[in-house]
Amino acid sequence: SLEKIGIDKIGFYTPEFYLDLADLAQARAVDPNKFKIGIGQDEQAVLPLDQDVVTMAANASAPILAPKDRSEIDLIIFASESGIDQSKAGALYLQRLLGLNQSARAFEIKEACYGATAGLQMAYDHLAAHPDSQKVLVVAADVARYGLETAGEVTQGAGAVSMLVTRAPRILALSQPTAYFSEEIMDFWRPNYSDTAFAEGKYSTEQYLRFLEIVWHDYQQKTKTQLTDFAALLFHIPFTKLGLKGLCQMTADADQETKARFLQVFETATIYNRQVGNIYTGSLYLSLLSLLQKGDLSAGAKLGLFSYGSGAVGEFFAGELQSNFESMSQLADVETLLAQRQKLTVAEYERLFKQTLPIDGSTLTIDPISQHAQFRLTGISGHQRQYK
Ligand code: CAA
Repeated sequence: SLEKIGIDKIGFYTPEFYLDLADLAQARAVDPNKFKIGIGQDEQAVLPLDQDVVTMAANASAPILAPKDRSEIDLIIFASESGIDQSKAGALYLQRLLGLNQSARAFEIKEACYGATAGLQMAYDHLAAHPDSQKVLVVAADVARYGLETAGEVTQGAGAVSMLVTRAPRILALSQPTAYFSEEIMDFWRPNYSDTAFAEGKYSTEQYLRFLEIVWHDYQQKTKTQLTDFAALLFHIPFTKLGLKGLCQMTADADQETKARFLQVFETATIYNRQVGNIYTGSLYLSLLSLLQKGDLSAGAKLGLFSYGSGAVGEFFAGELQSNFESMSQLADVETLLAQRQKLTVAEYERLFKQTLPIDGSTLTIDPISQHAQFRLTGISGHQRQYK
């Protein structure tokens, strides 16, 4: 199809609390430069008890959706690897909280950090296959928890990215074909009984880079695209240093000027990720948002995107910036969200981290903690989460 399909609007939400990783370094007796330079992260969002993936998804989506969008969406895809229920889809809570069209398919998908990309490509296919369908909502919401005093602790975070996918999109038109690869490996996983993730840290970074090599090679073969056709390369960013390694791998044979150009763009594309931390399946799209708001690209610019979800699936795909991308990407007021955040001491962060919902069916009422959020978790009763 010659018709353009892609991202028309992007929304974002991250909790109102954060940890300065220089403070974490000090508490863990680690050189702060290991976190700032070695890992490439400055701060991480901390999830309070009155937020979960459903409220974060709703908080990310509400500001970007006009009444017309709400009535025209006929597919709601909720992507998460930290969902709240083994059976019921987060998409249904989202539909009710946001007042979305009920003549819609609504479901949740999971494949680690790849989920949102699966959702985005599915949204494309849905619109390409159904001429009467107008709009698809794809929301990526996650909280990354590895545990106190673990190697992964510095790569935690929380947040949600919401994307409205339409024809004649005003931000990014998606290109086809794309290149993908999957293989069953144990680099990162979270068994049903655990609320923190297990990771073979070093192995997972090697697999990320191996999958990147495979799909980038395949993409070039399939599309006859060259590195220099792209104005920017975007990556899944579990922590910015890994994206940087991906970039260095892709540009290894390029000249110095090309390397410098991609590096400069990469830095603008990771400004928000450095402050929010890993938001798993939304991380690639938070990097896109950072580039859209902080970069100086022009309409028509071609972006290359690498998505990776442990377990594992990798996909390389491309998109073209549309003429209204600058104004449309301002719908997400990231600066205000970040400026409103409250810095926690390490002790406060540890206390919040240990606060979890009852798992025995007992009732809990949660007094408001988030001051600026439109949607909050107000409690749990009869094994049901209550939202407001
Ligand atoms: N100054 C500057 N740099 C320093 C330093 C200092 N004082 N001290 C150490 N460093 C550097 C090291 O040289 C190293 O750099 P290179 O990677 O370039 O060699 C870097 O800091 C990290 O040091 P270590 O390798 O010793 O790090 P670590 O053992 O503490 O673990 C980690 C790092 C494996 C990423 C760990 O944080 C982790 O397990 N994270 C969770 C897993 C993860 O995010 N994996 C990503 C791929 S999986 C995925 O993508 C899905 C997903 O989102 C989870």
